[in-house]
Amino acid sequence: MSLENLKQTVLAAIAEASTPEELEAVRIDALGKQGSVSGLLKTLGQMSPEERQVQGPVINGLREAVTNGIAAKKAAFETAILNQRLATERLDMTLPAPEAPRGTVHPVSQVMDELAEIFADMGFAVAEGPEIEDDWHNFSALNIPETHPARAMHDTFYFPDKDAEGRAMLLRTHTSPVQIRTMTSQEPPIRIIAPGRVYRSDSDATHTPMFHQIEGLVIDKGIHLGHLKWTLETFLRAFFERDDVVLRLRPSYFPFTEPSVEVDVGYSVVNGKRVIGGSEGWMEVLGSGMVHRRVIEACGLDPDMWQGFAFGTGVDRLAMLKYGMDDLRAFFDGDNRWLQHYGFNALDVPTLSGGVGA
Ligand code: PHE
Repeated sequence: MSLENLKQTVLAAIAEASTPEELEAVRIDALGKQGSVSGLLKTLGQMSPEERQVQGPVINGLREAVTNGIAAKKAAFETAILNQRLATERLDMTLPAPEAPRGTVHPVSQVMDELAEIFADMGFAVAEGPEIEDDWHNFSALNIPETHPARAMHDTFYFPDKDAEGRAMLLRTHTSPVQIRTMTSQEPPIRIIAPGRVYRSDSDATHTPMFHQIEGLVIDKGIHLGHLKWTLETFLRAFFERDDVVLRLRPSYFPFTEPSVEVDVGYSVVNGKRVIGGSEGWMEVLGSGMVHRRVIEACGLDPDMWQGFAFGTGVDRLAMLKYGMDDLRAFFDGDNRWLQHYGFNALDVPTLSGGVGA
């Protein structure tokens, strides 16, 4: 077949291709390893220099014509497909907004907003840290050395690789590493809360592998347990919106606080249900204590100059206590009926004056 004939044949095949698949078959026939045009290009190697000088431009011109023809046809297919999609996905923007489904604010988000509002009023800023942590921030700097039994207690999810500094990587097991990140990145005095996701390999009706905590940290001069107690009392009264919230402080142990204090909140039984307020019974709500000297030191601060307190609690649990849910797993099911029932109106932003309970 003459070169000109071959060219006409291939160009005709391109023109006739009616689908991207057919076009691809034409391309392979011409430009593929065994293709007709590729075959011609290979013959150039065996030609004499004079012959090549004449045939080279012609054969290469043929290849270019075929390549361009295929590219143009491919672009045409793409435009046609796009136009077809645009035609079928047309939206009528003049239609009224649908009545349902209407999104609601998840109780966890709601409670986090309430907490931020309450603590902002007491002069606390919101701090954040990464959910993928290293073992120095999550454990060592918090006075939990490698051999410490608390490491095993946390049911940690570890990553197989270490970070650039050779530290083990993990999903943070609590929000306490944000204490370290804050103390190493900003000068005291410090007043922060840090809400966020935490992870532990644990799962039943009251434990999910991912849950939410909020951390609080105050570092200043002359801070003592009295400040801690007042802060928690003020916070819990604002949160549960009752003046008769009573706290019970019990001695406890956390590696990163000394002394450590576990805080219970009193409840009364009304019509067989537990209601926060009064002191008929006690429910544990948070862990806290005076920040351990070693933690302050690990962050490069002088513990003789700076003292403080820290506390941590489960946001999901606070939400359950305040809004009366009893199964933690429902928090993460994404069941629209549950969300419609327990969710909050997005426009009801919690404010202290309007009531943080929305
Ligand atoms: N990090 C602790 C936990 O996850 C809670 C805590 C925070 C205790 C701060 C004391 C001080 O159980």
